[in-house]
Amino acid sequence: MRPETSEKKIDIENITDPKNIDIEPLKKKDFNWKRKSLLTTRDLQLEEIDLILETAKSFSEILTRQVKKVPTLRGKVIINLFYESSTRTRSSFELAGKYLSADVTNFSISTSSVKKGETLQDTAQTLVQMGADAVVIRHPDAGIPFQLANFLPQTISLINAGDGANEHPTQALLDLYTIKAVVDDLKNKKIVILGDILHSRVARSNIWLLQKLGMDIHVCGPPTLLPKIFSDFGVTVHWNINDALKDADLVMVLRLQIERQNKGLIPSLDEYHRLYGLDHKKLQLAKKNVKVLHPGPMNRGVEITSDLADDLNCSLINQQVSNGVAVRMALLYLLIFASGKP
Ligand code: CP
Repeated sequence: MRPETSEKKIDIENITDPKNIDIEPLKKKDFNWKRKSLLTTRDLQLEEIDLILETAKSFSEILTRQVKKVPTLRGKVIINLFYESSTRTRSSFELAGKYLSADVTNFSISTSSVKKGETLQDTAQTLVQMGADAVVIRHPDAGIPFQLANFLPQTISLINAGDGANEHPTQALLDLYTIKAVVDDLKNKKIVILGDILHSRVARSNIWLLQKLGMDIHVCGPPTLLPKIFSDFGVTVHWNINDALKDADLVMVLRLQIERQNKGLIPSLDEYHRLYGLDHKKLQLAKKNVKVLHPGPMNRGVEITSDLADDLNCSLINQQVSNGVAVRMALLYLLIFASGKP
């Protein structure tokens, strides 16, 4: 007969109860998070945005600790499913999951059965059978995360980590978190999204998100990379950079997606840099305390000069990267764990 033990059974529910971790926003009485997945910024409510940012702020404290680990998502399984290369997004989701004590697995598509012709539906079935609690997907084609959502049970959280030129909602949320750290009231503040708007999922997710906060959104780029139709998105379209930058509070520079420029959309990288590359001289047209963002990866010397990217007086690029981990911790927590609470 097995001897009786006085050891207490581990109460996972108790350990992961938000009251037992120091996440202030989650202790609010009116806390009522229902969302299970995040595929777009279009359908985010202001209350949800506030809670994501407040939760990220609480989690950011964990990142300053010697031991960056809390048991919040212990026993939960997160699968990173990246069909397209990524440095920041994939590694920050991996770190975010690990800091919350989840088990995180990266599916490498180059060595997976997708290469042998496996369908998205079969991949979804595999994820279910492996006990995934959350799937983070990046895909070169727009709409794939929405398609995958149809094949997964609603108990599994699905996060869009970038689909073609469509959306990159977690990038927009970390951009907003970074902006809010330096700008008090966003209402009517002028932000210029500059560059290859046509191919940019970051631009689209930011437009939908920042509009909700009442920002004055301007987009700027060459006509071939910024069709007039973008004015239907409720933003001001500029093909002239001087007009765009005048009195700007913030400039978000986008990567020129060189790999997608085989259709002759720009005459040359040199000319693109001369006309649309951001440098200190062009930035003088903006407000004195203007701040510059870039989601990365950067083409230094093409869409932004190295001097400007590394100018800590105005560049928020490093903060964007570190804030990405805290925002993704908040999202994983809210989507996987908090949404399961009654
Ligand atoms: N910003 C961004 O999505 O970067 P990665 O492609 O490196 O993930």
